[in-house]
Amino acid sequence: MSIRFDSVTVAYDGNVVLDSLDLTVAPGEVMALLGPSGSGKTTALRAVAGFVRPASGRVLLGGRDVTDLPPHRRGIGMVVQQYALFPHLRVEDNVAFGLKARRTPRAEIRGRVAEALEMTGMAAYARRYPRELSGGQQQRVAIARALAVRPAVLLLDEPLSALDARLRSGMLAELARLHRELPDVSILYVTHDQMEALTLADRIAVMDKARLRACGTPRELYRAPTDAFTASFVGNANLLPVTVTASGAALGGAELTVDTAGAAAGARATLCVRPHLVGLGDGPNRLTGTVREIQWRGSTHRLHVEVAGHPVMADLPELRDPPAHGAEVALHFAPEDAVLLAAGVGGDDH
Ligand SMILES: Nc1ncnc2c1ncn2[C@@H]1O[C@H](COP(=O)(O)OP(=O)(O)OP(=O)(O)O)[C@@H](O)[C@H]1O
Ligand SMILES: [Mg+2]
Repeated sequence: MSIRFDSVTVAYDGNVVLDSLDLTVAPGEVMALLGPSGSGKTTALRAVAGFVRPASGRVLLGGRDVTDLPPHRRGIGMVVQQYALFPHLRVEDNVAFGLKARRTPRAEIRGRVAEALEMTGMAAYARRYPRELSGGQQQRVAIARALAVRPAVLLLDEPLSALDARLRSGMLAELARLHRELPDVSILYVTHDQMEALTLADRIAVMDKARLRACGTPRELYRAPTDAFTASFVGNANLLPVTVTASGAALGGAELTVDTAGAAAGARATLCVRPHLVGLGDGPNRLTGTVREIQWRGSTHRLHVEVAGHPVMADLPELRDPPAHGAEVALHFAPEDAVLLAAGVGGDDH
């Protein structure tokens, strides 16, 4: 079932924390809401669930205006941030909670609880209390509880934030599997973790300061970001302040060949180059600078090089012979691997 924000604005005490959000999640789509703390992600979710009332705008589910409906009549499953399970209830009763609230017949509750626990791999834990479970298992129960109501729309608010990196990547794979089993369920997935968004989402909506900054497929946002904020939030980015020239862009004394996409010569702009697309040594779009920092990361080396007063990061396959601290090195990148952004570094975008 589709989820649509139609110019939704939410304010607390006159403070706008969600500003005219327009966004549509297609039926069966996984949309990640990605953004820094306080950008309005949870608020957007709460507006869909019905826990907060928009000051203006409408929320539509499957084309139906639900703005005035109470939460339990919206057909939504939600996993809240910090997945609050009821500590005094066994796993099975936690999972049954939403069904009881909806006055589902008892016999049906039993079947649905079993099904939801089965899907999340928690069938063997039905009689336990939350305190007898690991963090990852509690997480699964929270998801089972949301699935038990057979929602057409699933809202997940940082569902994996309490887990360590290993468990998180396991749960990510589980969520992807769950979605394959429930292909019609639309998922709105809040995270501030770009890896989660890149891995799981069909599209990513980037939030910043109560506003939607950009929305697109992970690939679009990664390969062709439209603004500096999105570039640095979806993946790592070198953001270089350049001046547009007749044939490309200039950084310090270096003349670079890049697609200026019609920007006027003389204009200030930001050049986005992904660190893993920066090479060491001579090549097209050569930059020279001083090595300020070398980090060995197992399979890669990250070089921090100061170029004309600006930091440039290069992620390189592990170097046999890494340059010394303070050495002068040349870096390069292919013209097609750079994206020119209109906004200046340090301007309104930061
Ligand atoms: N009940 C409330 N009363 C007043 N202000 C609130 C309330 N809930 C949220 N806010 C404010 O609204 C803004 C957006 O909050 P929200 O919870 O949507 O952010 P978020 O993007 O989910 O952040 P995080 O990543 O930290 O969870 C914040 O500045 C927050 O302080
Ligand atoms: Mg939040």
